[in-house]
Amino acid sequence: MNPHHRKVHLPVPSFATATLLLLPLALLAAVLVAVYHNEFALQSYLARPACPSNASDTSLTGRHVAVRVAPDFRLLIGVLTLPGLYERRHLMRTVYALQQPNLTAHVDVRFVFCRLASEEQRVLVALEAMQHGDVVELDCPENMDNGKTHAYLSSVPALFGDRAYDFVMKTDDDTFLRLPQLVESLNRAPREDLYYGCMVPCDVVRAQENEYMSGMGYVISWDLVEWIVAAAEQIRNHTVGPEDRLVSTWFRGAGKGKNRVDTKPAMYGFPDRADHCAHELVHDTIAVHKLKNNGRWATTLKYFNFTAGLQPSKFTSMD
Ligand SMILES: *[C@@H]1O[C@H](CO)[C@@H](O)[C@H](O)[C@H]1NC(C)=O
Ligand SMILES: *[C@@H]1O[C@H](CO)[C@@H](O)[C@H](O)[C@H]1NC(C)=O
Ligand SMILES: *[C@@H]1O[C@H](CO)[C@@H](O)[C@H](O)[C@H]1NC(C)=O
Ligand SMILES: *[C@@H]1O[C@H](CO)[C@@H](O)[C@H](O)[C@H]1NC(C)=O
Repeated sequence: MNPHHRKVHLPVPSFATATLLLLPLALLAAVLVAVYHNEFALQSYLARPACPSNASDTSLTGRHVAVRVAPDFRLLIGVLTLPGLYERRHLMRTVYALQQPNLTAHVDVRFVFCRLASEEQRVLVALEAMQHGDVVELDCPENMDNGKTHAYLSSVPALFGDRAYDFVMKTDDDTFLRLPQLVESLNRAPREDLYYGCMVPCDVVRAQENEYMSGMGYVISWDLVEWIVAAAEQIRNHTVGPEDRLVSTWFRGAGKGKNRVDTKPAMYGFPDRADHCAHELVHDTIAVHKLKNNGRWATTLKYFNFTAGLQPSKFTSMD
């Protein structure tokens, strides 16, 4: 008997198999980078810098804009949301990805939440991190008004790098942003000391003192992000409460955010009698707020002809 025939061929993993096995592990390792900043231990699922300094080299990859010329500016949009809202994130990813191709600015959308509450979330959100690379977990207890916004804004430089963006936005998961209109509007805004958004209260004329930019979506320039990091001690005692009003309190106390840009009436609430900032959908729109259910998203997207480019036959045909 030829001894060779008796040789037991143990399944030695091929290089390809090994790569397949190791790749997810490597991704996970890359994904679970803990960044320590202030008191927040941050787990960033994607702390990739916005853009190489030379943007003309940026190539077309999955969710990245193909910017052939240097972008006008770099904007980070942090959507503060809850880990369990998988369906809403799916919708928002689609809505924002579809708007990317014609932007003249580099816009990154990231979903931001506090600590994942369960093993289930840790697994399911990790899947999103691996596929989309656009979720950020902050080490704060999950909440609306207990410092989440401060945790987000103050951790941006540590997560994304120094001067990674020109503008940083905080928005919500019930806000629809029209990115081209936002970019066009920001292009005309000051790049320093900027506090931009829908100034509230909407219904009454009040002293400048009491006004602030609605939490539906406000933008601050990078220098103010740096200031928030630097002023951590000063504002530590002022991080609990309605987050949008608090931000204006921090700025007011320090004489910051003097370049205020009020986008009304281009940012508003979905038509609803109870909302003083609401009005009918209009062509000249940057943001629509209070999209609390799929029906409102559908109505809004339809109004803005979001799906108009798709031939009905293509929609019904499966291939
Ligand atoms: C960007 O890259 C182009 C081509 O590689 C080069 O000509 C240009 O000087 C670079 N710009 C900067 C700011 O590095
Ligand atoms: C993007 O630009 C191309 C060419 O300039 C144009 O055909 C297309 O309609 C634009 N798409 C959107 C969504 O504006
Ligand atoms: C913050 O609050 C603590 C305790 O309430 C107090 O000791 C501290 O002086 C306050 N810091 C500032 C900057 O107001
Ligand atoms: C949507 O398309 C219709 C028909 O072409 C047009 O009349 C309307 O102005 C468009 N709406 C917006 C918000 O651009």
